[in-house]
Amino acid sequence: MIKSRISILVIILASFAATAIEDNPPSGDAAAGELKSQPCIACHGPDGNSPTPAWPKIAGLAEGYIYKQLLEFKKGPNGDCNDPTMYGIVQNLSGQDMLDLAAYYASKEMTIGAVPQDKLELGQKIYRGGNLLSGAPACAPCHDPTGKGNYLANFPRLSGQNSQYIVTELNKFKSKMRVNIMMNDIAARLTDDEIQAVASYVEGLH
Ligand code: HEC
Ligand code: HEC
Repeated sequence: MIKSRISILVIILASFAATAIEDNPPSGDAAAGELKSQPCIACHGPDGNSPTPAWPKIAGLAEGYIYKQLLEFKKGPNGDCNDPTMYGIVQNLSGQDMLDLAAYYASKEMTIGAVPQDKLELGQKIYRGGNLLSGAPACAPCHDPTGKGNYLANFPRLSGQNSQYIVTELNKFKSKMRVNIMMNDIAARLTDDEIQAVASYVEGLH
């Protein structure tokens, strides 16, 4: 009797340990997330494709990345992605709400924009090859040549994203308002022209 209780305990502990190792892979309910998405529509659009270029499209971003971002917003100034607007919005969301919202928006498709002709050449050059002189690396190895990102490594999708939002984020990385060891170094090496060009390039990349 005691022995079987111990083995049950061992199994329970082992499954906790396994969850910790996998870093709690998100498991949200997309249908529940849709019901909870009402407060997001005004800014991110009815299906996560924000009509306002200043605000990010969130449709088709990876579930794990959306969840991570919501957690960071909730930490406010102590988080890696402090934003006063999103900070206010996530305050009343539970962990489960965030998982459900992440599952819902990940199930939607991000719309793709067009690259303005005058941004194509420089944007593509930076995206595919970086800038050897400044040491800015190419974006493609991490964010994928098609811009779909890398789900397992948590490198977010850039394909189709609003260019105005991308410019804002690259400048936030540059000034370390948004914290990420890789992107802080990369953004610091990009000029304003390169930021504009690569942001416009990824909006149409697919
Ligand atoms: C008042 C406008 C507004 C509303 C409402 C709003 N958001 Fe946002 N959201 C923003 C802005 C602005 C940003 C960009 C913040 C930044 O610069 O980091 C953002 C960023 C995000 C991001 C990060 C995207 C990325 O690519 O990293 C996610 C995820 C997100 N919002 C989810 C939600 C969800 C889910 C809701 C509803 C519960 C919601 N937002 C409601 C304005 C809004
Ligand atoms: C070594 C890998 C790596 C390279 C190279 C890289 N990135 Fe990133 N990028 C990341 C990671 C990791 C994140 C997620 C940061 C976070 O979680 O806040 C990110 C996030 C971003 C974001 C924020 C997206 C969003 O939805 O908020 C933008 C924009 C971005 N990168 C643009 C670029 C551009 C442009 C280049 C090329 C000049 C580039 N990255 C090169 C790893 C990389």
